Amino acid sequence: MDLRDLESVRRVLDRVRPKVIIHAGAFSNADYCELNKSEASLVNQMATEVIAREARRLNSFIVFVSSDYVFDGKSGSYTEEDVPNPVNHYGLTKLKAEKAIESETQEYAIVRPATIYGPWDARLKENFALWILRNLAGGQTIRLVIDQIASPTLNLGLARMIHEITRRQIHGIIHTTDDVSISKYEFGIRLAKLFDLDVNRIIPVTMDSMGWIARRPKNSSLNVGKAKRVLKNGPMTLDKALELFKRELVLSESTISS
Ligand SMILES: NC(=O)c1ccc[n+]([C@@H]2O[C@H](COP(=O)([O-])OP(=O)(O)OC[C@H]3O[C@@H](n4cnc5c(N)ncnc54)[C@H](OP(=O)(O)O)[C@@H]3O)[C@@H](O)[C@H]2O)c1
Repeated sequence: MDLRDLESVRRVLDRVRPKVIIHAGAFSNADYCELNKSEASLVNQMATEVIAREARRLNSFIVFVSSDYVFDGKSGSYTEEDVPNPVNHYGLTKLKAEKAIESETQEYAIVRPATIYGPWDARLKENFALWILRNLAGGQTIRLVIDQIASPTLNLGLARMIHEITRRQIHGIIHTTDDVSISKYEFGIRLAKLFDLDVNRIIPVTMDSMGWIARRPKNSSLNVGKAKRVLKNGPMTLDKALELFKRELVLSESTISS
């Protein structure tokens, strides 16, 4: 289905009548969303409103993949009870989508991952960790921000948590990142060390030198205490997540050489 065509979204859900909807579709590039606000609102917010309404009508349980970018990043270590306050249009569309789900249905879970990485790229997008490894392995020097803190999320861990939330129909908002708060620079250093790559090729820079279009939250790290309490296969420490990432990368077809 095309999320820009709200009627097609309605039609597909009505035809399939799913018991469970895992809704991860979005424009997730913050700069693109800032430059294309109405398109971002259509796909991220309005399509989610339709999906939430249809979920209630069809009695489906919906799991919505939201984002740490709903927070303003002023304090960090956000819990599910903290009040969101997005600083860019992407975050705003994700927050409005969350609100639409909460007001349309009671049969929902909202998961919040952040900076998703893993041993395979998405169809059209290179993920952050593979981008770092490919550049370092190819002898390139890279710039990583030192003053933006977040909680990276191994996609395998996220998939496992979403699977458990779906199977057990756990309700409400739940933070589903790795159990860590770290800057992109420190994350890059950890990866480089793990793969015996040259850490000196990583240059620490500040956010204001990046030329980004959308503002970013300074510290959008998430507290994963709830997920650790509620889930059997909850958030992993960064050490565990990176170990699994490395093992899967070696086993997979993916290559880090450029
Ligand atoms: N990446 C991150 O670091 C991050 C962090 C926090 C939250 N999230 C959230 O996680 C989810 C996945 O994000 P991602 O970064 O993995 O992005 P992604 O790889 O770009 O995946 C987004 C998905 O949305 C689909 N999509 C986009 N526009 C669509 C449209 N008009 N109609 C139908 N499908 C459409 C894409 O389909 P195609 O594959 O067919 O293009 C793709 O499957 C999103 O909800 C995002 O907000 C991501």
